Amino acid sequence: MSTTHVVILAAGKGTRMKSAEPKVLHQAGGLPLIEHVLRAADSLSPATTVVVVGHMAERVQAALGKRLGLRFALQEPQLGTGHALLQAEPHLAGAAGTVVLLSGDVPLLRPATLKALVDRHLASGAAATVLTARVSGPHEYGRIVRENGGIAAIVEHKDATPAQRAIDEINSGIYAFALEPLFDALRSIGSGNAQGEYYLPDLVGIYRAQGHTVEAVLLDDSREILGVNSRRELADVTAILKTTRNEELMAAGVSIVDPATAWIGPDVAIGPDTVIHPNVYLEGRTRIGSGCVIHAGVRIVDSTIADGAIINNYCVITESLVASGARIGPFAHIRPQSEIGEGAHVGNFTELKKTVLGKGSKANHLSYLGDAVIGERVNIGAGTITCNYDGTHKHQTIVEDDAFVGSDTQLIAPVTVQKGAYIGTGTTVREDVPSGSLAVSAGKQRNIEGWVAKRQSRGPKSETRSPRSEARDPKS
Ligand code: UD1
Ligand code: CA
Repeated sequence: MSTTHVVILAAGKGTRMKSAEPKVLHQAGGLPLIEHVLRAADSLSPATTVVVVGHMAERVQAALGKRLGLRFALQEPQLGTGHALLQAEPHLAGAAGTVVLLSGDVPLLRPATLKALVDRHLASGAAATVLTARVSGPHEYGRIVRENGGIAAIVEHKDATPAQRAIDEINSGIYAFALEPLFDALRSIGSGNAQGEYYLPDLVGIYRAQGHTVEAVLLDDSREILGVNSRRELADVTAILKTTRNEELMAAGVSIVDPATAWIGPDVAIGPDTVIHPNVYLEGRTRIGSGCVIHAGVRIVDSTIADGAIINNYCVITESLVASGARIGPFAHIRPQSEIGEGAHVGNFTELKKTVLGKGSKANHLSYLGDAVIGERVNIGAGTITCNYDGTHKHQTIVEDDAFVGSDTQLIAPVTVQKGAYIGTGTTVREDVPSGSLAVSAGKQRNIEGWVAKRQSRGPKSETRSPRSEARDPKS
């Protein structure tokens, strides 16, 4: 049984975000901020993980409800970080070992850093170990005050003297604590400071006065402990996550034409020799094979794209499967539960929803195919529409192998076009079409001879009538 426990602080108001959403649920790099923190925490295989919630607690708790084994402590009202950690005490009653304290708004922390922090903490036998970093320029962080090399206290920016503000070593807000003296010491923190809050960093001074050892671990890359307090910092963190992700993928053999504009989520997998063009968004559990080309402006969510498929510009593909060698777009919309077969083509301005398009079939232009099962080697002519909805229910269209559906066809579901049948252009298909037959429904064409000349001789008054209405109703 592990003796590492994790507490994540997420009760604060996040005032500087100016948001109706809880801060820790804002997304960066395809995940809510707190999910990044939870993943880092998972790397420690903790015995207990407690999230301290307060401001919009139900929202945060609901968003994390799917995560098993997570415990929540309610901090109400929010009186500062020291008070926040104290709320986790009931969940850790009787436990021993180390508490690693994380902030729900510090999402870039790497597992290796956490491991190093815990290792150093255990090796030194300290009561508290603080993760610190050096930053340049003015910051709102707590400053690390050292004496004889060791850490003596942490002073919050708002409480610091000018000399203390000049210190460039700052508190990351990430700590490892020995559990045994922790909660009693937390109770002795006061709130006599600029913000009237119970500051967790005050524990350092308290421990020092009590003769406990406090250690500091200085990080090499200060970007790792960037906290998100504003939209600006959210964008900074998002940009760093994107760069890191793209570098990983390029190192694994994926070509990214413009890494500045490729947005690829942490759970997306891409095979080698796939080329990602600019302004592409790959989200959720998307899987892309090798040798694919994803052209500019494409968004793919929770979908699987097999080897060698080509997704042309400006397609949106959601919860669908695209088999190898298929070609989609430009400007295609593939909606949930669709499957595009091997070598099939979906062309411009074509929308699929809950539709299977079989191997080698083509729907190249301007079609809506919903709730349809389309066999292999089928041609779907331009402007074909499945009329799948009667206002109450959705109905299915089946088009069997080798059928040919002419342009501008409406398939009124439920309906089946059997193997190899032909549908003439402009047909409204209301009944099943048997194998081997041709279905046509348009009336016989009538040409009205001399109509144009007659219209012109009628003079200016009748010119207000459109030739279309004349053609529709020539007798009136
Ligand atoms: C805190 C530290 C500061 C450090 C910085 C690093 C304190 C007093 N200061 O400042 O030394 O340099 O983090 O990012 O700890 N929270 C609660 N309940 C509360 C208050 C805060 O759960 O009552 C949570 C917040 O939701 C947040 C975290 O604690 O996740 C940090 O709080 P925040 O107000 O952002 O502290 P900082 O001003 O950033
Ligand atoms: Ca913060």
